[in-house]
Amino acid sequence: MSQWGILLEGGAIIFFVAVLFTYGAAGLKWLRLTPALRKRYRKLPKGSLGWPLVGETFAFQHCLMSTTPHSFVDERRRRYGDLFLTHLFGTPLLASTDPDMNKFILTKEEPLFTSTLPKSISMAVGENALLMLRGDRHKRMRRLVLSVFSPEVLKHKTGSIQASATSILKTWKGRKVLVADDAREYTFYVAMNAIIDMGQDRDERSEVFRNRFLQLRAGARALPIDLPGTAFRKAVQARKHLKTMVETVIDERKRSSGPQYDDLLAKLLRASESDGGEPLKNEEIVDVVLSSLLAGFDTSANTLLFLVYYIGQHPQVLHDLKVEHQEILKDKPADEPLSYSDYKRMKLTQSTINETLRLANPVLSLHRRTLQDVEYNGRMVPANCPVQVWLRSLHTDPDLYPQPYNFDVDRWKGKASTNNFIPFGLGPRLCVGMDLARMELSIFVHCLVTMYRTWELAEEDAPRFFPEPGMKKGLPIFVHDL
Ligand code: HEM
Ligand SMILES: *[C@@H]1O[C@H](CO)[C@@H](O)[C@H](O)[C@H]1NC(C)=O
Repeated sequence: MSQWGILLEGGAIIFFVAVLFTYGAAGLKWLRLTPALRKRYRKLPKGSLGWPLVGETFAFQHCLMSTTPHSFVDERRRRYGDLFLTHLFGTPLLASTDPDMNKFILTKEEPLFTSTLPKSISMAVGENALLMLRGDRHKRMRRLVLSVFSPEVLKHKTGSIQASATSILKTWKGRKVLVADDAREYTFYVAMNAIIDMGQDRDERSEVFRNRFLQLRAGARALPIDLPGTAFRKAVQARKHLKTMVETVIDERKRSSGPQYDDLLAKLLRASESDGGEPLKNEEIVDVVLSSLLAGFDTSANTLLFLVYYIGQHPQVLHDLKVEHQEILKDKPADEPLSYSDYKRMKLTQSTINETLRLANPVLSLHRRTLQDVEYNGRMVPANCPVQVWLRSLHTDPDLYPQPYNFDVDRWKGKASTNNFIPFGLGPRLCVGMDLARMELSIFVHCLVTMYRTWELAEEDAPRFFPEPGMKKGLPIFVHDL
């Protein structure tokens, strides 16, 4: 998820110091063992662990902040191949940008690999989050969550998602818009709708919930230092408040025979009816609700931000998208909301989303750890070694994507789905919100290109990678009427 991608890869120096606290011990042990390991594991993957303590962190940060943010990986890939050792933020680790190795890592969870999260994130998501669960409990919870985000259920949401997009886009007329802010507003609203309808006094409660949630999110990215005034401490407190709020809604729903909801919360409350297992405890429900919001909100917002940026940079793509979406409108009575089959016709839009995710995936890397010595393709990875799948590097490999840094939607024409493109991960932890994300992005694009003629930057802006992926100024634009 973006959050830990950011934590490990985009961290500022101060963050680096803190990570040394949390990871330092493990990292150092590993380092000290290295000569012995090298003897024992002659087949250790190639690479460099850099300087003591800091490893290659500064070189990495330097590249991220430069005009060639990918050069760190590109250089190492040239020198060592698609699988290399490095040492970042206090931890020696194995980075993989190899499609087959990625598949191996992501599909062979236990007994070979397990997922790992930094402390701030695990506090924020809670111990019962999908991301934290393993084995059978993970399987069961995942089935429950997936059933809410499946195409069959999402089918009925096109209209309400469209209404959210339209109501935000209407406010864009005649003012300078900071796309980053409004993208967050939109994706938060869509995620809340799918995950937890606040019921009574919806608007008022949602506002309080949102503010607390933003504190939780800030803590998930902060140093895991639990002292008065720190972002981490505030997030711990925000979490308690959020938990009470979710529990209040649970109580209300249990007590009343009022309206039937079709959100994730409703599904979790009926878990034992739907799969015959034990009813879920409140803590489990709270963790799954909060973690799904955390997982689905920034990721989609960031992708939307880059969609608007790239489309704006490519007038031909905007033109072709308009044609696609006008076609869809032409075939329906005016004012009839978008249907699922309309959404399924948005082919070029899908290519545009793919090309955007390829270049600007909000999730930089996926993090695992070996549980035992693992041999792969003649290389030996020792037990307890952090292993990272670097998505952006895979997606900009020139052997897989010619002229990788060009935004070119045509490269998706007739392309079959492969392991070379895994913006939502792969295997047992494949993103559960994938269909929702694609749908909300597509519908927003539909509304944007049919409501406005074009848009232009209100100020020069450019993508940035540090301290986290985004646009330097949040993409300020003016829209122009049809
Ligand atoms: C463009 C938007 C999104 C991207 C790029 C994205 C990407 C990902 C990736 C790469 C993973 C795999 C993590 C791993 O293997 O360690 C993941 C997992 C997950 N995503 Fe997403 N995601 C997006 C939107 C969403 C949305 C909208 C939701 C929910 C509303 C969501 C909920 C989750 C959850 C709960 C998991 C954990 C699954 C598990 O551990 O079994 N994501 N996502
Ligand atoms: C976009 O990528 C997905 C994989 O996430 C793939 O299944 C799909 O075919 C791609 N769509 C287009 C239009 O290329």
